Amino acid sequence: MAQAIETETLSTHPLDPPTTSEIETAARLVKSVAPDFVFATVALNEPDKASVAAGTAAREITVVGLDRQVGTKRFVVDVEAEVVCSNETVTGGQAPINFRDVAKVIGITKSDAGWLAAMKARGITDIENVQIDPWPTGGFVHSSIPAGHRAMRAISFVREFKEDNGYARPVQGLIAHVDITAGVVAHLEDHGVVDLPPEHGRYDAASQPSLREAPKPISITQNDGVSFEVDGYAVRWQKWQFRVSMHPIHGLVLHQLGIEDGDRVRPILYRASLSDMVVPYGDPDPMHHWKHVFDASEASIGTIPNSLTLGCDCLGEIHYFDIDIINYKGEPRRIENAICMHEEDYGILWKHYDAATQRQEVRRSRRLVISAIHTVGNYEYGFFWYLYLDGTIQMEVKLTGIVGVSAVAPGNEQPQFAPLIAPGLASPVHQHLFNFRLDFDLDGVANRVYEVNTEALASDHSDNPHGTGFAAVATLFEREADAKREIEPRTGRVWKVVAPDRLNRLGQPVAYKLMPSATPVLLASPDSAVGKRAGFGAHNLWVTPFEAGEMSAAGDETNLHPGGAGLPAWTAGNRSIVDEDLVVWHTVGVTHVPRPEDWPVMPVEYCGFMLQPVGFFERNPALDLPGH
Ligand code: NI
Repeated sequence: MAQAIETETLSTHPLDPPTTSEIETAARLVKSVAPDFVFATVALNEPDKASVAAGTAAREITVVGLDRQVGTKRFVVDVEAEVVCSNETVTGGQAPINFRDVAKVIGITKSDAGWLAAMKARGITDIENVQIDPWPTGGFVHSSIPAGHRAMRAISFVREFKEDNGYARPVQGLIAHVDITAGVVAHLEDHGVVDLPPEHGRYDAASQPSLREAPKPISITQNDGVSFEVDGYAVRWQKWQFRVSMHPIHGLVLHQLGIEDGDRVRPILYRASLSDMVVPYGDPDPMHHWKHVFDASEASIGTIPNSLTLGCDCLGEIHYFDIDIINYKGEPRRIENAICMHEEDYGILWKHYDAATQRQEVRRSRRLVISAIHTVGNYEYGFFWYLYLDGTIQMEVKLTGIVGVSAVAPGNEQPQFAPLIAPGLASPVHQHLFNFRLDFDLDGVANRVYEVNTEALASDHSDNPHGTGFAAVATLFEREADAKREIEPRTGRVWKVVAPDRLNRLGQPVAYKLMPSATPVLLASPDSAVGKRAGFGAHNLWVTPFEAGEMSAAGDETNLHPGGAGLPAWTAGNRSIVDEDLVVWHTVGVTHVPRPEDWPVMPVEYCGFMLQPVGFFERNPALDLPGH
């Protein structure tokens, strides 16, 4: 029941993602000044709020890639005026990894004599069926690779045949340090031979010894059609209004999210998206201790969404959005059905049964789901925004795919840092930390943030004669340093974004609260490579005043960046955050101690957060929902 849609509408909104023709124009203009350019990403150079509001925003596209003569370049191109507005040589980091890098690492490794000899020593001769996984090596580039060169590490897995799950058979102890720029394996680490684990890890139905009886089908049909309206990338649903796009680093983006209240649309979030993420490993083993991939900014997660399939990825009456990316040659490439949107029944929203009258009022909850799923190497990440009928907003990250693995040497059957998940196969402890950037415009631009802890009153407090008292205590964050905070479930800690001069009928300033889930912070030392490069992971909350260019929590080009960029650098000046245009940055995630049940493919694990109105509405905003 997918509706055919044409995403390239006649009139382009200033916040629409780049169109195919805009990508072509941008590529042509970049090639005119950098003929030897390897393209990594194209993104809308998002115009400032004022020019969007005034309708005067130019269509500018940011192009990042590699000029083989100069290094990483960042161009901004005005695709209407057809001019290159800026042409910057990037220092510190490099353009994200692209398919050309990946192909080169595989080719270089598989033709290296030392690597071939090391494979032979392990009895592996069917090189065709060896799977090479190139990994970012930022923070741990081998000393033999010159600064400025593109570098990755290659680790290997053995497939018995092409369709096999290679992760069942990791080649332990062998790491090729590949200098992509020089086209060589600069250094080969070999920690000795460990036998391949004995069992295969195939997860397709045909490979299972038996299958259970399938549950009976559930059909989700909406005979009267869907309740949302779509115009290009603009969506209206049950008083919600927003725009959607896909950004190469931030993935799924919601723009200008607001809610209809009477005859006006009240803004809530100007822009909401992932800003970056990191997956640090806690195992000191030489195969893993250096791993801390930034799947968003190093692998440009927004360029690798799945084409979603009806009935499998998404169930119901689905509206899909296609997205356009660029390949390394500068050609646009369309990924169909990259963003899925549909409605879901979500149980009851509210209910009461009046015993005296024996009458009940009950309303069903429904949510609008806007989602995308990205495959990054062995892992899948799904990002699901949910909008509810009572003004609640939720982000749920779904983690699935295949865990990282080690082959276990005899005598090391229960490794401390890598639980055994199958015979001879262990999976290192690791974290997935996602930083979400929430650019609030709550009922206007000037906002402030309070931390609210619900605390017991002291037993000698004059208001607490019975020792039962507790109260919510709000503390204003005045400067950036105040707002570097962690979760605290014992006090029900939330962070409340407030529009100070917009009062509800009770005299309270209208607000939305950020409700964190049980979520870790970065466990690695702040002095470690990942501690420096993923400083955003040190805190669950950061708040900054809006500043153009402060978009990604670890800075822009993180690939091979030594660290220190992004939130720690921006907040070093300790700017005022009272009654400013505020950006709230929320680090959420999971610390993953792998289970046997996570093998050979991991059931979805969840993390995320909720945003809920607090006095933003005058009463339950879903009272007006008709009954049945
Ligand atoms: Ni994991």
